[in-house]
Parts: sequence; C-alpha cells; structure tokens
Amino acid sequence: MPPVIRAFRHEPSATWSYLVHAEGDAAAVVIDPVLDFDAGSGEASTGSAAALLTAAEGAGLRIEWVLETHAHADHLSAAAWLCERCGARVAIGAGIVQVQRAMAQRLNLGEHALATDGRPFDRLLHDGEVLQAGALALTAIATPGHTPDSMSYLAGDAVFVGDTLFSPAAGSARCDFPGGDAHALYRSVRRLYGLPVTRLFLCHDYPAEGVAPRAETSLAEQRAHNIHLHDGVDEDAFVAMRTARDATLAAPKLLWPAIQVNVRAGRLPAPEANGQAYLRLPVRLRETAGADGAHSGA
Ligand SMILES: [Fe+2]
Repeated sequence: MPPVIRAFRHEPSATWSYLVHAEGDAAAVVIDPVLDFDAGSGEASTGSAAALLTAAEGAGLRIEWVLETHAHADHLSAAAWLCERCGARVAIGAGIVQVQRAMAQRLNLGEHALATDGRPFDRLLHDGEVLQAGALALTAIATPGHTPDSMSYLAGDAVFVGDTLFSPAAGSARCDFPGGDAHALYRSVRRLYGLPVTRLFLCHDYPAEGVAPRAETSLAEQRAHNIHLHDGVDEDAFVAMRTARDATLAAPKLLWPAIQVNVRAGRLPAPEANGQAYLRLPVRLRETAGADGAHSGA
C-alpha cells in the first residue's frame, strides 16, 4: 500500500515539508519542517510548523519521528519545536557530524557551544537503515553531494530526495557548501534513478512566475527531462556544468542563521549570561572599486 503523503508549502523559503503515514495507521513522520524567521529582528516563529501540527492532530495522527533530509542552508528547521510539542524524536544522516565539525571550525565554536558528535539529534542514520513509525517503514538512502549529510528516504513507491534533485525544469542543487561534491551528487542521482519507485518528492521548487510550485515529480519524468541530470548526461559533463554554475551563485540569504540552528536540530543556541541567545556571522572587509574606478582608501 502506498504511503499517505501530505505536502506543506513554506512560501518564503520555497520549501516543502511532508506529513507521511501508512494508510489506516496513526503513526506518522514529518520530513523537513520549517520555522519562520525574520533575519532583521532575529525572531524565529512557529506558525508554519503549528499549521502542520494542527493538520496532523486533525487527521488523528501521532508524529513519532521528524526526519531531516540534510542540514538546510536556506531555512531554519522546526524539528526541535515539533519534537517538544508532540514527543517525537529527530533523525538525520550520520554525515551531520561532518557538517557540525565544519561549522564549529568556521564559527570558531568550542565543543561547549556546538556539539560535533551528532547531538542533539536522537538518531543518526546510515545508508540502508530502516526507520519504523508504526506500519510505515522508511529506508535511509545516503545521497551525498549537495551536502555530506544528505539523505533520501524511501517509503513504498515514493522517495523524498531533499535537495538531491530539484524539479526537472530546475535541475540540481549546488555542491559548493562545505563537504559538497558534484561527483558524489551525480552518483547519488544515478542511484536514485535505479530505485523501484515512481514518485519523487522534492524539498524545494522555485517555479517561474505564474507557474504553480511542484512538490512531486515522477522518476520517469526526471530521467527523461531533468535539465541537469537526464539519462545520457555523463559524470564529467555534469560536474563541469555544476562547478561553473556554482561559481556564479551568491550565498543563500539565511545561510548563517539556518546552518547554525539546523546543526542543532532546529534549536536556537543556548542563551548567554544576559538571557539572550545569539547567532554568529563571519565577516570580512573586501576592498572593491568605486563607481569612478578608484579604490576606497587608495
Ligand atoms: Fe539544501
């Protein structure tokens, strides 16, 4: 029996979250829930996650697990808040340890400030492990490339691919974050294309104006029409395209807030002595030419 899947759209970050359960069973999982976040004020809020929780409760479902497809760099995860509200646990790919280490180093945070052993996630998933929520079984499929912790989740005829693939019109995700690897992404996608599934559920869609965003695509459609990774594209061609494209991309607007919260499973950092929590931002000064061609300070 195919799993029952409901998609929730978070418009500000173009993210899809999912509520998934087996037909006729109350045990459910949530994949990639989102906190609302206002970067100007530093305020995170729970409206979008609360809507998902209300929908689950309204359908008589019990959320047992929250799954992350990876440590997202474009939105803050609502995993910790959801888990506190409904007693669920949170799981992510075991590669999160690599992301935590990279972030601790980049942000100059000691072990007391940022754990690098997988905490506070409740379960670190390795390739091939099965996570059970009632009658629903999800198999973790390691799909590194976009990030080292990227994990896809296979459930019946469906697979949740995170940022391993975008819609056929959008192609693939960038591979230039720490631990990203375009070769690995290519192989991950080829592996997904060999799965015995029909439905692929995306983490994002960024459609052209006037076009409705899509949560779901089919395996056949991706293989035939994905602009970056359709059948017949070879690894070297993909890597050359991806590398050239990544060199042109700006950092995501919420990169630093998102990654700092998401390596903590959606928790804000601990408050400091004055009771206020803070996020860090690496900064540097780069001298650039002014409008008249003169360098400032030169
Ligand atoms: Fe991502």
